[in-house]
Amino acid sequence: MCGIIGFIGDENATPIILKGLRRMEYRGYDSAGLSIRTNEGLRVIKSVGKVNDLANVQDLKAISGYTGLGHTRWATHGKVNLENAHPLSSCAGEMSVVHNGIISNFQTLKKELEKEGHTFKSSTDSEVIIHLFEKYFENGKGIKDALLKTVNRLEGSFAFAIMLRDEENIVGARCGTPLILGIGKSGSFLTSDILGFIEFTDKAIFLENKEIVVLGKHQFEISDFEGNLVAKEVTQVAWEFGTPTKEKYSHFTLKEILEQPRALERVLSQDQEQVDLFCKKLKTMAKVVITGSGTSYHAGLYAKYIMRDKAKISCDVVVSSEFNSQDVDHDTSVLVLSQSGETADALRATQIAKDAGCQVLSIVNVVGSSLARESDISLPLKCGPEVGVAATKSFTSQLALIYLIASRMGIGDDNMLASIPQKVESVLREAERIEKMVSGYTEARDFYYIARSIHISIALEGALKMKELSYIHAEGMAAGELKHGPLALITQGTPVVVINPTDDTYQETLDNALELKARGAKVIGISTVSNEVYDDFIPIPKVHPSLSPIIEVVPLQLIAYYAAVKMGQDPDYPRNLAKSVTVN
Ligand code: AGP
Repeated sequence: MCGIIGFIGDENATPIILKGLRRMEYRGYDSAGLSIRTNEGLRVIKSVGKVNDLANVQDLKAISGYTGLGHTRWATHGKVNLENAHPLSSCAGEMSVVHNGIISNFQTLKKELEKEGHTFKSSTDSEVIIHLFEKYFENGKGIKDALLKTVNRLEGSFAFAIMLRDEENIVGARCGTPLILGIGKSGSFLTSDILGFIEFTDKAIFLENKEIVVLGKHQFEISDFEGNLVAKEVTQVAWEFGTPTKEKYSHFTLKEILEQPRALERVLSQDQEQVDLFCKKLKTMAKVVITGSGTSYHAGLYAKYIMRDKAKISCDVVVSSEFNSQDVDHDTSVLVLSQSGETADALRATQIAKDAGCQVLSIVNVVGSSLARESDISLPLKCGPEVGVAATKSFTSQLALIYLIASRMGIGDDNMLASIPQKVESVLREAERIEKMVSGYTEARDFYYIARSIHISIALEGALKMKELSYIHAEGMAAGELKHGPLALITQGTPVVVINPTDDTYQETLDNALELKARGAKVIGISTVSNEVYDDFIPIPKVHPSLSPIIEVVPLQLIAYYAAVKMGQDPDYPRNLAKSVTVN
């Protein structure tokens, strides 16, 4: 998933585009580039690595013009190198394109265009867009005509912007991946994300699927892929998405872990009427299916237990990449969980559900995201912007909101949630001790996490955090499965995190810890009571078992974060990953 930005206005585009790219860097950080229309033609500057590397390219600051494009890349097709960095150019360099998505029929189109004499300079899928546009533009029926012909030849998912040396306007198109128009005083923007222009304006127009735009400094025209004009409403987006900064913290990830008590208080200040309406809708259908990807899928697993125990509703949980029309029918409510609201697998699951006549409900953090707009009803997570690629505060916020909904659908509010922010605060006070403890584990090649019942979702989440932040192989599992195979993996010193709050799973999980110890494992205990079986122990406050997962995950986030820092990884921008995955 990449970040694209286009700007056309009355100010120098270079600094404006750089600022937008910095804000969208969490979308991909393999390479970055921009193209500025100057009096001498299009000037393209690219660099491998982060936006900072681009900003330090010698000539960049000398380049100025009122129109430009920018891109930050997450490589899917073609290696991470300068040739494959965007913006990509037409044969004669008079046109530039920036693209986010995957063109699935690029090989066929590339062969056709090469036969017609086009020269390709990269091994990306995206480059076919600019050569196709160039081909149709040369037929001289104008940029809108060329754009319509181009989009109707492309297959896959795409959001792109094109700028021409000899044309005033820039053009763009959306099919799948997000594209947003920003209407500012000094000019207009086209970006993948509100963050791309939020510093300059809060007036946004969200392009729907299969729409194109011809954009001028202070006017625009939006049409569908047949060329029919489409009327649009301007949405005022929340400034809260303004300027997430690290403040005094060394990383966004640490800041977001330490922000959780405040985030949880905000989550609980939901619009009660909206929550009641959400609960009512969730109850209307005979069946409930929950879906999400990665950490959001783990929140779904927690929801399954809570809905069963609190609301007496049995739910299926399906990971979004495997979601299938067989899983649902017209009498199903589908609850989609997503921090970004732009995860392609979650959006595809949503489309499958809608096509099957289901009711789609969602819980999303990013206001105005595609999922929030495409759901029948959507509840905002309200945990504030999350920049670190590893989901932390959004996860505990998802669990808290799911608990609120389930209790509201069942026995009604039990107020037990109100004490959770302060309980999380008390666990965060262990941060320093956890940091010291982690030093003893950074040589490990494998890490295992075990738990039972509702706590299994936390074992899976702890392992995911360790993988994506420290790059140590990690696996979370049901403790009861150990003896059915994984126990063979345990040798002298193998670290195993045992999540073991004092509820009805306590004794059996403790027995598992003893079995692991007998095989030489180094056992880290996360529990309300210590025990000699633990080599290291992290205390957590006692709360109701169904709320304990919100607390238990916090030490696991810190273990993964400190392991990453001690191993010299960049916790905010883990290799090969991106904050939300907008391609399938
Ligand atoms: C979690 O730390 C990861 N960033 C990833 O697994 C993420 O949870 C997944 O891509 C889903 O993202 P979403 O919640 O924005 O849909």
